[in-house]
Amino acid sequence: MIRKLALTAFMALALTAGGAQAAGEEGHVVDFEFPFEGPFGRYDRNQLQRGLQIYTEVCAACHGLQHVPFRTLGDEGGPALPEDQVRAYAANFEVFDPEIDDFRPAAAPDHFPGSGLETAPDLSLMAKARSGFHGPYGLGINQLLRGIGGPEYIASILYTYTGEEREEAGTVFYENLAFPGGWIAMAPPLYDGAVEFADGSPNDVRSLSKDVSAFLMWTAEPKMMARKQAGLTGVIFLTVLTVLLYLTNKRLWMKVKYDTRREH
Ligand code: HEC
Repeated sequence: MIRKLALTAFMALALTAGGAQAAGEEGHVVDFEFPFEGPFGRYDRNQLQRGLQIYTEVCAACHGLQHVPFRTLGDEGGPALPEDQVRAYAANFEVFDPEIDDFRPAAAPDHFPGSGLETAPDLSLMAKARSGFHGPYGLGINQLLRGIGGPEYIASILYTYTGEEREEAGTVFYENLAFPGGWIAMAPPLYDGAVEFADGSPNDVRSLSKDVSAFLMWTAEPKMMARKQAGLTGVIFLTVLTVLLYLTNKRLWMKVKYDTRREH
């Protein structure tokens, strides 16, 4: 009995310690609201188009999207650009073509280029590679309730610079509340008004951070809407099946029940 108690106490301690340690390393992630959250969530086409514009005008200088083909920008459920705009957009980039052994303007089937800056990671899958929500106590229960938090993590990185910087071995680090460890080598890429939208959508740092993160969620999971739709159809199908099986079961046993009742 005493051993059991001691074991429980030890496990509780270990859990708490693990949680405290994890909280020390992790940054603080702000819980942004995205239209694609929840079982009925959908990508907002206008938001994805704004995010694409922010990526193109700001992030593309350093970060690549090498797993994303240009043609998907025209996909339904994504930014859904008209076909001629997809072609015109792709032509802004150059790709190396081994067949002509030279560079040529990119076409719709080509992929976005990789990162131009070696130290900047490719962003294609970043929204799925990072998780914003952990706890409590490192158990990950938050992820069940609020999602993995990839886009929230990216938005928080862009949004929570404190303005402090320090230099270490020739590299400048910028204090950032969301980045694990608290200091990131990326200078704050966004500022209020960094990008102007044709429709006059808000362009303060918070809105820009959110829109570009929504776009990066789409690059990481372009078929999310189809997946949610399939899940919902499955649940409805199983619900109907359950009702039918219940009724069938009742009917099959009706006679037996009736007979046994009469015997007593
Ligand atoms: C001037 C170059 C530059 C620009 C512009 C830039 N970044 Fe970065 N970014 C970097 C570098 C370098 C790193 C690596 C930082 C590190 O590991 O400390 C980085 C890291 C990141 C990370 C990774 C954090 C992690 O967990 O590893 C994300 C996400 C990110 N950038 C998003 C963006 C977005 C979105 C934009 C556009 C709004 C952008 N960056 C613009 C250079 C840039």
